[in-house]
Amino acid sequence: MLTLGLDKYEDIFRPLLFRLPAETSQNIAEYALSHQWLWRGLGTLATHRDKQLESEYCGIKLKNPIGLAAGFDKNCEMIPSLANLGFGYLTVGTVTEEPRAGNTKPRLLRIPEQRAILNALGFPGTGLVKAAHRLEEVQHLTKSVPIIVSISGTTEDQIVRCHRRLEPICSAVELNISSPNTAGLKIFHQSDNLTKLLDAVNKQRERPLAVKLPPFVASNSSDAESHRESVLALVKGCSSAGIDAVTIANSLPTKDPRMAVGMGGMSGKPVFNDMLDMVRAVRSEIGGSLAINACGGIFTGQDAADALSAGATTVQLYTGMVYRGPWVANKIGRELSSQMMSRGFRSLDQFRIGTTE
Ligand SMILES: Cc1cc2nc3c(=O)[nH]c(=O)nc-3n(C[C@H](O)[C@H](O)[C@H](O)COP(=O)(O)O)c2cc1C
Repeated sequence: MLTLGLDKYEDIFRPLLFRLPAETSQNIAEYALSHQWLWRGLGTLATHRDKQLESEYCGIKLKNPIGLAAGFDKNCEMIPSLANLGFGYLTVGTVTEEPRAGNTKPRLLRIPEQRAILNALGFPGTGLVKAAHRLEEVQHLTKSVPIIVSISGTTEDQIVRCHRRLEPICSAVELNISSPNTAGLKIFHQSDNLTKLLDAVNKQRERPLAVKLPPFVASNSSDAESHRESVLALVKGCSSAGIDAVTIANSLPTKDPRMAVGMGGMSGKPVFNDMLDMVRAVRSEIGGSLAINACGGIFTGQDAADALSAGATTVQLYTGMVYRGPWVANKIGRELSSQMMSRGFRSLDQFRIGTTE
């Protein structure tokens, strides 16, 4: 019944928002999402519930496997509204220890003909103290929607301090070592540095931990094979360190003169096939030892089904919400449910094994 109303985003609101600069549209979306009463009311009407979509992620029960990816709510300010949009979990952040201004503008671009976004934001954010304060205020919401906090930093100590402060007030932590827009993060692309970091975090951790990986595809195609091997080495490091999950993957480093810094991270449809390829390769490398969050170009129930079939445990998205609107998780959930019904599947696991037996 409300479905018709929900589709107004693509017909009416998106064309209006897309006339504005991308960061202005993002600010408008953030303003709209600051009115939690509105989303609570609409969410009750719009939410798609289906017991067959219930999932588990590292021991955490999810109403569905469709999560919000990191970066949309960098400062943990919109959680009460986001909790009503039908997502199975929310990833908020990336939170860094100190407040950061991010890179110079222009640093955000939509590419509608490719259903993509290019961003070179560089972690603008209000920092750890404010994020912790906001998370404490909404901690009770983790009972209905698990909240995963993405953290990062350019030194091991910064990351360990962020983890220590935030882990007790969220459901799980995602360690972002892969933002293409932040100088200094690449030190954790070296296996030794990542292992040292994970050892330090493991000493204090009590909740699930995921690492968000860089994509397989390298910006310089001449070193594609060695790049792929080095990312696979990171995966093996994660597995040996006994962490719980990997998120595959962050946005794809892409040169573009329209960005003030000359490059940005590509998200959306252009990264979807590479993401599927990487999920398949990582699943075959590590077997069932880690959960995999598939992230990159998930727009539809079919995309989510493809990612689950490739070996993902959950999916998560950002760009899909910009193109399909705030109810994207409900739309994808509905599409997944109808796929299950038409294929005679009784659980999501049947996408993973591709059979009704
Ligand atoms: C504007 C923008 C900001 C982002 N900020 C972050 C971030 O702070 N931390 C992070 O781990 N990923 C960030 N990402 C990457 C997304 O979480 C995701 O990995 C990527 O966009 C691919 O998924 P998608 O195609 O569904 O958007 C950002 C993406 C976009 C478009």
